[in-house]
Amino acid sequence: MKSQFESVKQDFLSLLSTVQQAEDLEQVRTEFLGRKGKLAELMAGLKELPPEEKAEIGKVANEVKRAMEEAYERACRTLEAYVVAEKEWIDVTAPGQFPPAGHLHPVSQAIAEITDIFARLGFTRVPVPEVDWDWYAFEALNMPKDHPARDNWETFFIDAPEGKRGKLVAVPHISNLQVRGMEQFALPFRMLYIGKAYRRQNDASHLPIHHQFEVLMVDRDVTLAHLKGVIEYFVHEYFGHDRVVRFRPHHFRFTEPSFEIDISCDICQGTGKTASGLCRLCKEGWLELAGAGMTHPNVLKAGGIDPEAYSALAFAFGIERTMMMREGMKVPDIRVLYGNDLNFVTQF
Ligand code: PHE
Repeated sequence: MKSQFESVKQDFLSLLSTVQQAEDLEQVRTEFLGRKGKLAELMAGLKELPPEEKAEIGKVANEVKRAMEEAYERACRTLEAYVVAEKEWIDVTAPGQFPPAGHLHPVSQAIAEITDIFARLGFTRVPVPEVDWDWYAFEALNMPKDHPARDNWETFFIDAPEGKRGKLVAVPHISNLQVRGMEQFALPFRMLYIGKAYRRQNDASHLPIHHQFEVLMVDRDVTLAHLKGVIEYFVHEYFGHDRVVRFRPHHFRFTEPSFEIDISCDICQGTGKTASGLCRLCKEGWLELAGAGMTHPNVLKAGGIDPEAYSALAFAFGIERTMMMREGMKVPDIRVLYGNDLNFVTQF
C-alpha cells in the first residue's frame, strides 16, 4: 500500500509539471486532492488495515498528502507569476503609439501665410505692442484730442498714469505702428505688422479682440498705383487669381485719399446673385475686407519724414474675416473661432 501512495504522488507531481493554465491546475487538483480524488480513495482503504500496519502506513499517507499539497501550492504561485508576466510582456517590435498631435489655430495659420506673402514683396514683419500711448494710436495719426473721428475706434483706456504721450490704450487698431515704424526704420522701408486690436464690441459679427495685419511702405514717389498693385498681389496670392479688387472712396484721418477695399465674392462670382436668388453671403457681389490709403502728410511729419520728398501707402485687413472668407466658413457667430471647441478648429 505504501507504494500505491508513492505512485499517486509521482503521478500527481508529473502531471503538475505539465500544467500551464489555471483550469488544468484545478482539474488535476480535483482528480488527486479532491474529496473523491485518488488520495481520498487510498486514505479510505486505511480503515481496513490491521492496527500495527495502520500506524506505519498512516504516517506515510500523511507525508504524501503534505508533499502533494505543498507541490500544489507551489504550482499555484508559479502559474500566477506566469500570468502576470504575460500581461506585462512588451512587444518591442510593435509599432509605437503616438500621442494625439494638435495643430495651429486657423488664425495662426493665416498669419503665417500672410507673413510669407508679404515677405516675397520685401516687407519686414515687426511686432505690435498690445498697449500704446494715445499719441501713437490717435494723435500722430491726425486725430487730435476730442476729434469725433476717434469714436469709430471704440477704445479701451488702461487705468494707468498718463505719460508724456498721453493716456495708455489697448490698441484699437494697429496703425499706431505707422509713426513708430517711421521713427525706427531708415528710409525707404516696407514693413508688415500683425497684431491684436481691442474694441468695445462683442456680438455675432464682432470680437472684442480681433487680429489685423497692416502694411506701410515709405519711399520716394509711392503712388496709388503701388497701393493698388500691392493689394492686388496679396488678394491674388491669398484668395486666387480670379478675384477682383474694388476700391471704394472712404475717409480716414490718416490717409488721403482713403479707400475701403472690397473683393469679389466667391459664392456668386461678384454678381450678387445665385441660381436660388440673392447671394446669401454678400448680397451685392462684394465683400468689404480692408481700409487703405496714401499716408496723410501730417502723419509723415509726425514721424519726422518730409512729405515733399517722400510718400507712403498703408492698408489693413481684419484677419478673422479674411481667413473666414477664404475658407468659406459660414458661421452664425464669429466668436465660435475662439470658443476652444476642438470639433470646430480641427476642421481647418
Ligand atoms: N486702421 C484702420 C482701421 O482699423 C484701417 C486702415 C489702416 C486704414 C491703414 C487706412 C490705412 O479701420
